[in-house]
Amino acid sequence: METQPVVVATYQVTRYYGDGAVVRALDGVDMVVRKGEFLAIMGPSGSGKSTLLNLLGALDRPTGGRIVVNGEDLATIRDLDRFRARTIGFVFQLHNLLPTLTARENVEVPMHGQGISGNAMRQRAEHLLEIVGLADRMNHLPAQLSGGQRQRVAVARALANSPAIILADEPTGSLDTQSGNEIMDLLESINQTQGTTILIVTHDPRVARRTRRILTMRDGKIVDDHPVRGAVWEDLRDLARSRLGEMLLRGDDEALLTQLGTAPDSARAIAVLRSWLSRVAQDIDTLA
Ligand SMILES: Nc1ncnc2c1ncn2[C@@H]1O[C@H](COP(=O)(O)OP(=O)(O)O)[C@@H](O)[C@H]1O
Ligand SMILES: [Mg+2]
Repeated sequence: METQPVVVATYQVTRYYGDGAVVRALDGVDMVVRKGEFLAIMGPSGSGKSTLLNLLGALDRPTGGRIVVNGEDLATIRDLDRFRARTIGFVFQLHNLLPTLTARENVEVPMHGQGISGNAMRQRAEHLLEIVGLADRMNHLPAQLSGGQRQRVAVARALANSPAIILADEPTGSLDTQSGNEIMDLLESINQTQGTTILIVTHDPRVARRTRRILTMRDGKIVDDHPVRGAVWEDLRDLARSRLGEMLLRGDDEALLTQLGTAPDSARAIAVLRSWLSRVAQDIDTLA
């Protein structure tokens, strides 16, 4: 991955709102994303995730700093519509499909104005709907589809112009767990089979864990950036930040045993857990 070209780079990007009491939605963000990455941007509500994603997709402009996407400095692009249509595929929490168009027609929307014939647009839309598993729903209107199916149409639409990057803002946010998992399966398979770089904003740790790298934001800043080694390692990271984890790392074994009660091997169990936790804690320290 280190050798892949950089597709997104930001340099001290800020985005402030208001002029009286200024809200620092982004407060100096530096990030690098390489081609083919599958990454999650996590963080509490209001931490700046959507603001960052909108800036990367040129839907908004930064107050300060520089953003380079697919080799282009966003500040110098003349035709932003064209840039967005060719480079970025957007997926939002609410799919915002056009209600009067069929699934196929919705997928064709971003292809208009790209010099593609009607016939080719139709074929491409049908092909994409097959990829997302909706071959039998091409002529349905959004209202005739379930939430999960509508979101799959939105993913197919995002793929219309073979974008270098897919930016998805809470793509599973309005779906039940199973439909959410299916959307993640789909995004994962697109990432693996087409090599599309995918950035997903989510506040759901289960969604984030399905990617390969997690950036965490707080108060407009990136406060953590780590590769996903596996679900259990992610659990250990959470444990390291919990009260139990703090006690283990501090070596507060007597207090632990008082709270948990003693068992024949509890001292040994605590020691083993602590050794794993220490490894993760080192990671957290070096990456933060
Ligand atoms: N258009 C806007 N005008 C004023 N403040 C905004 C606007 N959009 C976002 N903000 C503020 O910027 C901060 C970050 O918002 P946002 O990026 O939407 O957070 P997230 O997506 O992480 O929930 C919040 O404090 C939010 O209230
Ligand atoms: Mg948001």
